[in-house]
Formats: sequence, C-alpha cells, structure tokens
Amino acid sequence: MAGRIPQAFLDDLLDRVDIVEVIDRRVKLKKSGKNYSACCPFHEERTPSFSVNPDKQFYYCFGCGAGGNALTFLMEYENLEFPQAVENLASNAGMTIPREPSSSGHNAAQQEASTKPLYALMERVSSFYQQQLRNHPQAHGAINYLKARGLSGEIAKQFSLGFAPPGWDSLHSGLGGGNELRELLIKTGMLVKNENGKVYDRFRDRVVFPIHDRRGRVIAFGGRVLGDDKPKYLNSPETEIFHKGRELYGLYHARQNMRKLDRILVVEGYMDVIALAQHGIAYATATLGTATSNTHLERVYRLCPEVIFCFDGDEAGRKAAARALEAALPCMEDGRQAKFLFLPEGQDPDDVVRSGGQDHFEALLSQAVPLETFLFDVVAQGLDLASLDGRARMSKLALPYIRQLPEGVYRQLMFQALAQRTGLELSSLMLLEAPSLTERLPASTSAPDYEPPTDYDGPPEPDHAQQEPPQPAHFTHQAPVKGYSNLAQAAIALVLHQPDIAQLISTDVEDGIDGVGDGQLLRELLQLLHRRPESSTAMLLGHWYGTDEGKLLSRLAGQERLIPATAIEQQFLDTMAALSHLPHRSKLAAQVDKLKLTNYTEMTESEKQRLKDLLQEKMQRDALRNKPKR
Ligand code: UTP
Ligand code: MN
Repeated sequence: MAGRIPQAFLDDLLDRVDIVEVIDRRVKLKKSGKNYSACCPFHEERTPSFSVNPDKQFYYCFGCGAGGNALTFLMEYENLEFPQAVENLASNAGMTIPREPSSSGHNAAQQEASTKPLYALMERVSSFYQQQLRNHPQAHGAINYLKARGLSGEIAKQFSLGFAPPGWDSLHSGLGGGNELRELLIKTGMLVKNENGKVYDRFRDRVVFPIHDRRGRVIAFGGRVLGDDKPKYLNSPETEIFHKGRELYGLYHARQNMRKLDRILVVEGYMDVIALAQHGIAYATATLGTATSNTHLERVYRLCPEVIFCFDGDEAGRKAAARALEAALPCMEDGRQAKFLFLPEGQDPDDVVRSGGQDHFEALLSQAVPLETFLFDVVAQGLDLASLDGRARMSKLALPYIRQLPEGVYRQLMFQALAQRTGLELSSLMLLEAPSLTERLPASTSAPDYEPPTDYDGPPEPDHAQQEPPQPAHFTHQAPVKGYSNLAQAAIALVLHQPDIAQLISTDVEDGIDGVGDGQLLRELLQLLHRRPESSTAMLLGHWYGTDEGKLLSRLAGQERLIPATAIEQQFLDTMAALSHLPHRSKLAAQVDKLKLTNYTEMTESEKQRLKDLLQEKMQRDALRNKPKR
C-alpha cells in the first residue's frame, strides 16, 4: 500500500500551483479588484459572491461559506478523494508524489529495498555530472564560472561539484537509457514529468552541488545557473530519500574534515560553505533554502556544543537570525552555546573569506554575539530603556523567549540577566505573564457577527464605505473588534492574513488562551505555525478543511477587508496580550491557593515573598475587575 503523502510535498505543491488557474479552468473567473470573482459553483446564485484571492491562494463564498485552497476546490468540484486530488494537481504541476512509508505494514527491510536503488542511482548521477564537468564540450563555461568564483580544482573535487549539460535529455541517455532507469530517475527528482507526460532533465546547463546525507550518500542536488538567469538555484524536490527540512549542506564534509568539531557554522548558501572550506574553515554548513529549524539544530548539537549563525547584516539577515534564535531556544540545554555573527551589509561569508582570508574571518567569528546578547537586542529594539515603561515592555517581550529555554542553569541565568537589565525583581519577573495591570479588558460584549453583503461584488476598494478607518495601535484593547465575535477571532484573522506573525510570540503565550471564545482554535493555529513556520494561508485552510473550524477559518480569511492596512504586527501582539490577560486571573488565583496550602511557617523566605507578591497582584486585579463598568 502506498504510504502517506509527506506534508512538505503538499506545501510544495500548494506553493507551485496557482489557484486562479485551477479554478478558472473549471469556473470562468472575472478579475475584480485584486481578487477574482464568479457565481459560486457550490450553490445557486445570480450575483457573484464567490471570490478567489490570488495572493493568499484561497477561495471563499460569501453566500454559502464554502472555502479552502486549490486542493479542497478540486475535491469539492470534481468530487475527488484527497489522494486523487493531490495526484491530479501534482501531475498538472509536473511533480511526482513521494510517499512516506506508512507506519503499519511497511517494515525497515521493505523500506531499504525501495530506497537502496535510489541511493545507488544518485551516486551514478553524481559521477556522471562530475565527468561532464571534465569532458563535456560545453563545460568550459562552468569551469570558467567556478574559477571566476575563486574555487580551486581541489575544492571542486572535494565537494564533488559537477556540470549538468544543456539539453532536455542528457542525463537519462548519458546513463544508458531504458524505461526502468527513467522511472527511477523520476523517483529521485532528477527527471521531471510534466502534465503532457513529457519527461526531461531537471538540471540543465548548471553547476551542480551534490547534497550528502550524514553517511555520505548522495541524496539530492542543488544547481546554480552560470549567469544571472532565474531561478539562481534549483534544488531537488522532496523525495523518498531527501527531506530538505532535515538536511544541512556540508555537514558530512565538516565531519570528514575535522577530527573533532568544536563548533559548527550555519550559513546561508552552498557557495559560502565551499568558499569557507577552501579557506581553511571546514566546519560550515548551510540550510537548503529553508529557515533553520529545530530539527537542524538538534542534529548539529549532537555533534558539537557550539553553533555560530552567520547572517548578512541587512534586514533580511536580521529576520533570518531572529528565526534561528527562536529555533535555537528549546535546544539550549546547559553546556550548549549559540552565537550570532552579522556580516557587513550586502556581504556573505563567501565574499568576506575570499577578500579577508581565514584569519580575518575567524577574528570576526570570535566577535560573534552570544544568544543572550542577541535576544536582548531583539526585544529591546525601539524601546527606551531609560524609562520605566520601556523596561516593563522589554520584560514582557523577553519572557516568552526565555520560557522556551529548557530547565537548567542557563535559563535561571537568563531570568537573572533580564532582572538586571530591567531593574525588576526576579521573583515578580518569574510570575509576570501578562501585560501591565492597567491594560485590562472591559467585560466582553458581543459585537454583531459578520453579515454577508447581499450585493457582494468583489472585494471592496480601500475606501469602500464599510472599510474600517485605520485604527490606532491600541484599538484591540477595546475588544472584541468589530466584525468578530470574540478577540480570539480577531487574532485568528490577523494570523490568516499574515501567517508569519505567529513567530512573534512564543508557545508559552498560547497556554492561557484556551478558554477564551475561539481560543482553542487560535492556539492550535499558532502551534501549527510554530511547527511549520512556512505555512501559507492556503495550507492553513487545507489543514482544517472539512471541519467546523475550517468553516470559521475560511470565513475569517474571506473577511480581509476588516484587516487594518498597517501595524499588523502591533495589532496582533496587542490582541494576544489582551487575550492572555483574560485567563491570567484564574491562574494567579490557583498559584495563590497552592502556596496557601503550604503551611506558612514551613515556607522558605522566597516562598513567603512570592506569596506576598502574588496576593498583592491578585488584590490589585480584583479591585480593577470589580470597578463599576462604563
Ligand atoms: P543566496 O542567493 O544568498 O546564495 O541564497 P549565494 O550562495 O550567495 O549565491 P551566489 O552563488 O553566491 O550568488 C542562499 C541559498 O538559498 C537557496 C540556496 O540554497 C542558496 O545557496 N536559494 C537561493 C535557492 O534555493 N534558490 C534560489 O533561487 C536562490
Ligand atoms: Mn553569495
């Protein structure tokens, strides 16, 4: 039996197909503002209330509430089961579906039998490409390119660099041809089969970089164009033997080259790894065009105690670093270290090491900032730490990060460091979970739910009569926000609008929001985004498709016009702060009760102090809560 379809493949698929094309082939769409509209294929209607959003790749019907992504559309419209819909979309996109072995009925021996030929084949492919780099009549372009980038023949050999010749059928025929070979090459992603059934080389006229697994087996390739064409790099798709979210380029070589690994660098590109190795820094690795994940880091930390992330000094680099920071936090057991090196804007490790050499680069490495410094930098950004308010805000922002650290001395030290920087008491810091007491919420009232407009005619332009005026950053404290039944829905709508904002908050914040309106759904949404930060709106809708939650999500996604035009991040943080404030009261009460159960005379001094602090906080909160409502 075929195994499960890997999630990464589904993500890839939804990334590549265009929902507008998929739907338009079946239901004629009309451009309407930035969206497309049509009469809904899922219910009878005369005026169009079915809308397709090309940016976020989802559809929604304001009339009947149908909604989802390209896959769910196919399922509904063509009455297909999920695997058939995937099959259908994938073959149109020229992709082959890799299967994960199903946990039952598929044992290790079977697995090995199915993957063994793939590894063997990839080895042959790699040899073929290396040979082409030496012998192909058109290889001089590739050789000149590598030389121009300063690579020696020796290093090219060490990393098994090769040349994928131009032409659509070089690989298959070069390896001897035949049907069986063709099928296997498709399975490894080296050949692409398009919707017309035409099969051709994935990598053409590119320098290729074989990607090795930890045992040194070739599992995939990256390929770079020789000039400025796009895309600059192509990578193998996910296959039975290649999962890019787990692999690090260069890790195998680093282990080969270094007798003992004291530290590992994580950089962004293939060429960075190779240039560094050529200049004597043989311990660099790169992710394969994805963000650094927890899985990557766990793998690295099993080999050595120190990781240095090396990023470009520009805005994108800082963003990538902030993500790496988040991924690193849960890995920071005592004895492990993470550091961050920011290179001058516009320069990558390749540039820096080629112009400055090994010593220069290692001098920079010695100035890499430790995780704690970078973390406090990130959270203090834009805050005035001279003011009390600035310091309070800083602690509010830093705590969710610190809480992601595993229990241990390092975590304790981080709490202390935060106390020092903010001038707040350690004990109160460790209890503080919510925004300041004065930022309380009025009792919840129910705002009218969203009514579908009867004359819906595509998405409103920005100055549509029903458009909310831009709101000041703090409007969410007067929740629930218009158009949503509760605050959690407001937060969900923001996340659907811009999924990456989920990364702004830590998993801890999610804990307390379960009981609030649609808090549970919000929490699940955030958890999913923490596990899979790359998820798009379409993927999120796909995940909940066919459930009541899915209906709510589609509706919230369809109400894009309620989303303010600016300060999305701030709105989201405010909404989350407001939300986590709600259940905090009862948590606080529970903590007080727990401490009260301990006999006061048996308490340590710090426990007594903590009880006092708690009681005081609780009294203040109760006083606020009992104040007459406006
Ligand atoms: P960069 O564009 O920063 O690569 O992308 P680089 O190594 O500096 O490129 P050159 O060769 O020096 O110009 C970093 C990494 O992001 C992935 C690749 O893994 C690349 O090494 N990437 C980049 C892609 O997957 N596709 C692209 O089109 C570009
Ligand atoms: Mn580069």
